[in-house]
This record gives sequence, C-alpha cells and structure tokens, in this order.
Amino acid sequence: MSMNGYISVEQSLNLSGSVNLVGAKNAALPIMASLILTTGKSVLHLVPASADIWKMIDLLSDLGAKIKFDSEKNRLEFDGSSIDKVEVSHEVMDRMRASILVMGPLLARFKKARAAFPGGCLIGARPIDFHLNGFEKLGAKITRDKNLIYAVMDEKSNQNRKIVFEYPSVGATENIVMFATMQQGETKIINAALEPEVLDFIDALRKMGADIKFELPATIIITGVKTLNPIEHTIIPDRLEAGALLLAAAITGGQVELPDANSDHMDLFLEKLKLMGHKLEIGFNSRNGKKVGIRLIATKNPKAVNIKTCPYPGFPTDLQSPMMAALCLANGVGLVEETVFENRLMHVKELEKMGAQISVENSKATVNGVEGLYGANVIASDLRASVALVIAGLAAEGETKVFGINHWRRGYDKLEDKLKKLGAKIEVVEG
Ligand code: EPZ
Repeated sequence: MSMNGYISVEQSLNLSGSVNLVGAKNAALPIMASLILTTGKSVLHLVPASADIWKMIDLLSDLGAKIKFDSEKNRLEFDGSSIDKVEVSHEVMDRMRASILVMGPLLARFKKARAAFPGGCLIGARPIDFHLNGFEKLGAKITRDKNLIYAVMDEKSNQNRKIVFEYPSVGATENIVMFATMQQGETKIINAALEPEVLDFIDALRKMGADIKFELPATIIITGVKTLNPIEHTIIPDRLEAGALLLAAAITGGQVELPDANSDHMDLFLEKLKLMGHKLEIGFNSRNGKKVGIRLIATKNPKAVNIKTCPYPGFPTDLQSPMMAALCLANGVGLVEETVFENRLMHVKELEKMGAQISVENSKATVNGVEGLYGANVIASDLRASVALVIAGLAAEGETKVFGINHWRRGYDKLEDKLKKLGAKIEVVEG
C-alpha cells in the first residue's frame, strides 16, 4: 500500500448544510462494461470521477473503445464500435478487481475473452468461481494457464440455461446477465443479487434493448436479443456517499440535507440511524415524479445499535465500517457482524488507536461506546475504511491523519470538498 500522502482531519462539530450526490461507482462500473455490447455513441451522466472509474476507462480504451470523460461535469461519452481486443492484462486485473466485469460482455460480442485471475484483496479471498461456472453453463469453454483464463464459446453450446448461485454475488450476477443478453434463448439466474446498483445496471441494459425480467424469489430471466443499442443514462445517486455524509453529520451532532438521495436504496441503514435517535425527514423533494431527499438532524446523545451485514436489502457491507465509527461514540454496546467478506474488520485496530473500545471475535465486533475519541495516525485498509476513519476523525479531539489516500481516491469523487462545504476541517495532503 502506498503510504504517500494522508488525509488530515480535525475535530469539526455540528457539520451542517446541503450536498448533491454523485452517481454510484458500483453502478457506473458494470454499466461501462456493458457498453462493450453496443456499437455507436452512448452518454452516461453522474459518473463519479474516482480512481476506479479512471482505471475502467483505461481498460476499455485499451480494448479499443473511444471514451471521453468530462470529470467536472461527470459526463462520459462511450463508443464501442472500434473495440478489437478481447484480452485484459494481468496488470490491469490486479489494479482493479472489477475488471472481471468485461469478460461477460466480451464473450457475448466476440465469442472469446481472456483475463487474468484477480489477486485476493485485503477484505478477503474474493474468488471468481461463480462467474466462471456461470460462463461454462452458458456454453463457454474455460481453460486456465497459470494465471490466465481463456473463455471461448463452444459450438456444442450447452442448453441448460439455469444458473443457481450459492450466494447472491453482485459481480457474478452482472457478468452472467451481460453474457446472456445476446445468447439465443432464455437464461434464468436463481438467487441473483438485487442491489440497487444491479437494478440500475439492468435498467441501462433494458434501455439498450435487452429483454430482462424478474421473478420471485430473486430470479432474473434474460431472453437473448441479436443487437443492443447505445443509450443515454443517468447513474443512480451513490447510497454509499449518502451514507458517509449522513454519518458525518450524525457523529458531529450536526444536520445535513441530501436533496437527491433515494431513501428506498437504504431503508435498513436509515432505520438504524433512527434507532440511534437521529431525526430523519424523507422525501421532501421530487425528481421525475418520485419523492426523494433525506434530511438528518443528529441527536446529541446517540444510542448504540446492532448491525449485521447481508446482501441487499440487508445492511450493506460497504457501510459497516462507517457505521462502526459512529457506534464508537454511541451510548451502550453495539454488536457488528460482518457476513459478506471474511476479513473486513481491519479498521477496528485503527479506531482503537483513536480511543475506541472494541473487541473482536472472528467476524463479530463488540463496540463499547466511549465518551470521546482523540486524533491519531491511522491507516485505511480499504476504501470504506478510509471514510470510516475520516468520520471518526471529525468527532475526535485534535488531528487525525488517515494514511492510504489511494483508497479514498478509489471510491469517492471529491468527497473532501463536500465535507468542507458542511464545515469540516479536512485536507488531503498529497505525498
Ligand atoms: C461488489 O463486489 C462491490 N463492488 C463491492 O463494493 C461490495 O462490497 C460487494 O459487491 C458486496 O455488496 C462493485 O460493485 C464493483 P460479491 P463483488 O461478488 O461483486 C463471494 C466497495 O467498497 N464470492 O457480491 O466483488 C465473495 O468472496 C466494494 O465499493 C465468491 O465466493 O462482491 C464475497 O465473500 C468492495 N465467488 C461474497 O461472495 C465468486 O465468484 C460477495 O461478493 C464471487 C463472489
């Protein structure tokens, strides 16, 4: 991990103001990959200018796509007509796990693809067996040579088109959906992931002309079509950026308004904030005939709550560490259980350096609320941990230095400026 640079955060009580959200990175990434299926010019709006998006732009450009990204306007133009390469290098896969998402659409359009096994990452082993088994069931022949994976459409294509996931993997669902959109006949995915980002991605594919339906319980049915067309699409507002801003206001005893936030994407998280004693006003704004907007007025005396991460609509793993930061200063004992990734509690040690009292047993953390936190030098282990430590730093006495700005940059688009606008004393100090 690069130790160059850090985020300096000083105690900033009563954050207050209104912030517009950018689009969700985890919706933008698969939607960008899905544009491989089209020829002609597409336009995406609200694309966050975060490092993972830039990496995906590099990857897709390397395959031959023509991309223009206006990072100030968050507007991305994409033309996949000139894509002529089906190989993703090992180096690229290692830099960004989400690169695996180009395999499904490459295989659908060019009948072959090559990628490398992504490395494990700090939050867990993160295998890709669901993706590869799904491709095989859809008629691809997979061969492995050391670290490389080759996939080629088999002429004697398998007609058994029912994919049953043991676990509702977000990336595997997206990859199989992309692959199946242009496969003749019907494909069913049972136990599919239904995160808001997955639904936005399916919305974009439907605009392209894909035939995708849902069935209870958690089943996606894709009927293949011959061609898909370019689209114009606005990415859904980022519920993880929204969560970070709500928690920043909550922990500092302030108030924040997110006029474009969609509360339907974060019901359980909002319930937990209410249980802590924070006041929430939902749907005070309207967009395209829908009520949107979340306003939080923090209690000065928050109560501890328990959370357990699960696939949507359970509590999102990506908000587990930011929520834990808030629990450090709540009254009472909060239990936090991580069930999605096997190793996503590394922020605990860092929060302890700031005075938090947490004990960990396997994937469960017990957070004993304390009176106050103090500034310390801490290290972010992943992108969501970086925001968790910043949130803790906003409430901690003195200065907190969060090392690992590469993680911060991966997941957020100028979030430091949005926090500053609310009154936060935060500076990103480049190394
Ligand atoms: C997506 O990752 C997100 N990334 C993650 O966001 C998010 O934490 C995760 O979904 C869960 O919501 C993107 O959308 C780009 P999974 P993904 O496949 O698709 C296991 C963030 O902070 N699994 O749903 O990789 C896996 O190991 C990031 O923005 C297999 O065993 O997640 C994990 O334990 C981090 N085999 C669980 O499933 C497989 O083939 C869920 O992973 C695939 C996954």
